[in-house]
Amino acid sequence: MLTSVLRLLMFSLLLIAFLPLVLLGTLVFMIRLKTRNRGISGTAYEPFLNRLLFHHADTRDDAAAVQLAPHLPALSPTVAWLLIGTMGLAVRLSGYQGSFLSYPGGRPSSMASAMVHRTAFFDEALASAVDPTAPQPAQQVVFLGAGWDTRAFGALRDRPVRVFEVDTPATQRAKTEALDRAGMDASHVTFVETDFGQTSWFDALLRRGFDPDLPTFILWEGVTYYLDEKTVQTTLRTVSGLAVGSRIAFDTWSLEYFSRFVGQYMRLMVKGFYGESFQFFLSTAAPARQQASEFIASQGLELVGYEPMGEERGKSVPYGGFTLAGRSV
Ligand SMILES: C[S@@+](CC[C@H](N)C(=O)[O-])C[C@H]1O[C@@H](n2cnc3c(N)ncnc32)[C@H](O)[C@@H]1O
Repeated sequence: MLTSVLRLLMFSLLLIAFLPLVLLGTLVFMIRLKTRNRGISGTAYEPFLNRLLFHHADTRDDAAAVQLAPHLPALSPTVAWLLIGTMGLAVRLSGYQGSFLSYPGGRPSSMASAMVHRTAFFDEALASAVDPTAPQPAQQVVFLGAGWDTRAFGALRDRPVRVFEVDTPATQRAKTEALDRAGMDASHVTFVETDFGQTSWFDALLRRGFDPDLPTFILWEGVTYYLDEKTVQTTLRTVSGLAVGSRIAFDTWSLEYFSRFVGQYMRLMVKGFYGESFQFFLSTAAPARQQASEFIASQGLELVGYEPMGEERGKSVPYGGFTLAGRSV
């Protein structure tokens, strides 16, 4: 107990000492977002920087993120170190690993551990989908709204699966250029450009060699809230028509939580910082699992797994939820 208090104290003191560096990093990052990141997703940095931090904190390996980070448009070796390297150093020097770092973390999660929870949920969904001992292992993996996700460049590289990354043209090009500059081999990945709201990601995939008759796992992390309801529904309906054994994993924000003051404030912050708006929400009114189940059933899918993000008890409503859905047989 005393050790953990001392670790927290040391971590806090180191953070205070590093604060000017972190603030400088944030300032340069913001300037680069506005000047070098035009048309490219800004919110893609959020989960990426979190996964980078988990790596630096030694709680989740993501060597590919470390390799890619300095080459992304709004980062540089210095900015990446000022933003995340400093915090990683504070974690390593102090030995402190709070709930926001302790991957895969406990359940229920909290606002602080929501990113750990989210990362672990999707890691587990992907790992079990491509597990060769599974009844119908996925033969294709699609990262829908891939952003700076580096899972395709980790363990997935050694699996006998075809990998597709789908995102907007500007974000895709920024990523392939960054991978190139980083000297990372991406020859096993097919990059597909599309805008979910305007064109069919499915048609775009078909044009690039996607086989709808193979069981497919779709990772749709951190994307639904930026889309309108019709686009979310169209995507889920498309998955319901894929080969038997196909699954999609995605997260949603809570309608109830984001109607409250704190949620409204978060929406304003994201809009102000990145210029991207939350549009789609799903109810997490108790029982949240049932809300998710009914919603995906209405799109022709079956619930395979669900975890609320945050606590579902008394007056506390989950911030959102993580859903794994499969094609109904
Ligand atoms: C918050 S990021 C998540 C990235 C990645 N899935 C992750 O978790 O690291 C959201 C991603 O969705 C993509 N996205 C948002 N709206 C899109 C649209 N209409 N069409 C295609 N991609 C879109 C963005 O470009 C961005 O890369």
